[in-house]
Amino acid sequence: MSDRPSRFTPRVFSGIQPSGNLHLGNYLGAVKRFVDWQARDVETIFCMVDQHAITVWQDPADLARSTRELAAGFIAAGIDPERSILIAQSQVPEHAQLAWILNCVARMGWMRRMTQWKEKAGKNAEEASLGLFAYPALMAADILVYHATHVPVGEDQKQHIELTRDIAAKFNHDYGVDFFPETQPVIEGAGTRVMSLRDGSRKMSKSDASDAARINMTDDADAIARKIRRARTDPKPLPETAEGLETRPEARNLVNIYAALREITVEAAIAEVGGQGFGQFKPLLADLAVEKLSPIAGEMARLMDDPAQIDAILGRGAERARAIAAPILDETYRIVGFVRPA
Ligand code: TYM
Repeated sequence: MSDRPSRFTPRVFSGIQPSGNLHLGNYLGAVKRFVDWQARDVETIFCMVDQHAITVWQDPADLARSTRELAAGFIAAGIDPERSILIAQSQVPEHAQLAWILNCVARMGWMRRMTQWKEKAGKNAEEASLGLFAYPALMAADILVYHATHVPVGEDQKQHIELTRDIAAKFNHDYGVDFFPETQPVIEGAGTRVMSLRDGSRKMSKSDASDAARINMTDDADAIARKIRRARTDPKPLPETAEGLETRPEARNLVNIYAALREITVEAAIAEVGGQGFGQFKPLLADLAVEKLSPIAGEMARLMDDPAQIDAILGRGAERARAIAAPILDETYRIVGFVRPA
C-alpha cells in the first residue's frame, strides 16, 4: 500500500477486457495479483470490461461467451465472488455515466499521447472508433466511480493509471474539491510484463496472430508443454546471475515466467536454475506451468457448463457494486451542478 496518508479508505479495483482468450500474461500480471489482494483486509472489485472491448469490433455471441469465460477464469484462479465484488462493466451503468463527465475533463492532447491509442489506431486513426480514443476516460471512470485507491495491473497499463490521476487532479482543481483520490498503480512481481514466446521483444497478447506466442488459460497440458518446448531461445545456457538476463530477452522472459509461477523473485529463480541449458530448463518450466495452470483450465471448463450460475454471480456483483458507485456518482453530479431529482 502507499506510504502516503490518504483520507480515502483503501479500495482495490481492476479490470480485464473480455476479448479473445485470457492468457498467461493476464494471469501473472493481473489475476494472480488480484487473488493476493483479495487475501488482504481491503475491499476488492474486479471487472469484465465489456464496454471497453467494443471499442474495436466484437462479434456479439463471442463477446457474451468471452465475458462468461473471463468470469469463470477469475473464479477458477481464486477470486471468491463473496469476498470480492465481481462484475460485468455494462451491468453497472455508473461507469459510463461518470465517463461522460470525465470525457469533459480530459483534454484531447492527453488522449492523443496514449501509447495504446497510437498502437491500436495506428496510421488508420480516421477509421478508429471514437470510443477507442475516449477509452482511457472510461477506464478512469471505472476506477474513480469507486474512489479506488489501488489498481493492480501489468506494466502496459501504467500510463492509463497515470492519466486517471491527471483526470482526477484536474476535476478536483477545476471544481475546487478534494473528491477523487490519487489512485496508485500497483505493478509488482516477476510477471508484470510477460513477453511473446515467439519474440522476446513483443508483449504476450490476445491479439497476436500466432497462438504459439501465448499460453491461453484454457490450453490443455499438451498444448502448454508444446508451446514452452518450442519457445524461442538463444543457444547459451541460463546465466548464473539475474543481470546476465538483461541482454537476453527470451531467456529473461522464461525465467520471469518461472519466478512468477513459483512466486519467488528472479534472483531466487536464477539461484535455482542458473547454468541450466534450455534442454533441462524448458521441461522443468513446462511441468511447473502444467501443475499451476491445468487445474485452473479444468475448473474454468466446469464453471462454463453452468452459465446461469455465472450470470447470477455477476448480477449479485452488480448490485453490490452499484451500492458503492451510485452515491459517488450522485455526489459528482452535485459537484458539477446537475440538478438532482427532488
Ligand atoms: P487488458 O484486458 O489488455 O489486460 C488485463 C490485465 O492484464 C495485464 N496484461 C499483462 N500483464 C503482463 N504481461 C502481459 N503480456 C500482459 N498483457 C496484459 C494488463 O496490464 C492488465 O492489468 N485497459 C485495461 C482494462 C481496464 C482496466 C480498467 C484495468 C479497463 N478499465 C480499470 C484497470 C483498471 C486493458 O485493456 O487490460
